[in-house]
Amino acid sequence: MIVDEKTKIDPTSAVEIRPGVWWVGWPDHDAGFSNNPYLIIDGDEVILIDPGSRLEEHWNWVRKKVESIVPIEKITMVIVHHQDPDLCAAIPLIEEIIGINNFEIVTSERTALFIPYYGVKTEVTTVDDGDEIEVGTSGRVLRFLTSPYLHFPGAIVTYDTKEKILFSSDIFGGFSVNWNLYADEYYAEAVKNFAQPYFPDKRHVENFLQKIEKLDIDLICPQHGSIIPKEHIPDVINALRDLEVGVWK
Ligand SMILES: [Fe+2]
Ligand SMILES: [Fe+2]
Repeated sequence: MIVDEKTKIDPTSAVEIRPGVWWVGWPDHDAGFSNNPYLIIDGDEVILIDPGSRLEEHWNWVRKKVESIVPIEKITMVIVHHQDPDLCAAIPLIEEIIGINNFEIVTSERTALFIPYYGVKTEVTTVDDGDEIEVGTSGRVLRFLTSPYLHFPGAIVTYDTKEKILFSSDIFGGFSVNWNLYADEYYAEAVKNFAQPYFPDKRHVENFLQKIEKLDIDLICPQHGSIIPKEHIPDVINALRDLEVGVWK
């Protein structure tokens, strides 16, 4: 068991970050990069968010962690926030276990176009800005928000109204060699370094920040980097505000 000295958590295991919500990701220390799929269980609903890579050494982490909580066969829904392989490439492996059309795939219309390119046969449900779905038995509502050009035109994020979590995909992601599961006061710099080459124009960043200002957010769960607790949310929002992005020439 590897226990993070600061947070006293073991990142080699699934970590319950809120009741019924787990981090099931893996840190890639060599690349200074973590990939962060998340699992939500609510009644019979088992939702895997941004499942990840199909590389054996990556998928084995996710699979092992999910199975420490619930059999993979119980997954009812996979949410993917855009079409990148670090989110979507594992979907055919899930299909191999569960079967085609035995779980739901939820994403945006533009992303849905590319999901079959991974060899996925399951039908895809598409959502648009502000769409909501009720899942499970607790009255949990997931709200989808578009985040155009951050970094894909059809990118979306998910807001869990029950636990007030924003699953923000690549937004608020960070490269961090000294990775911790939870962000500290230095994480805002990692967010800047990630965003600068990745997002094309600060207008899109501003639009997104305005959109999430209306939400009551307790926790931000990005697809890379560290989970951002409430006390550091203003730091990472300020880090993106007025940031020069699209810097690669
Ligand atoms: Fe991406
Ligand atoms: Fe990503």
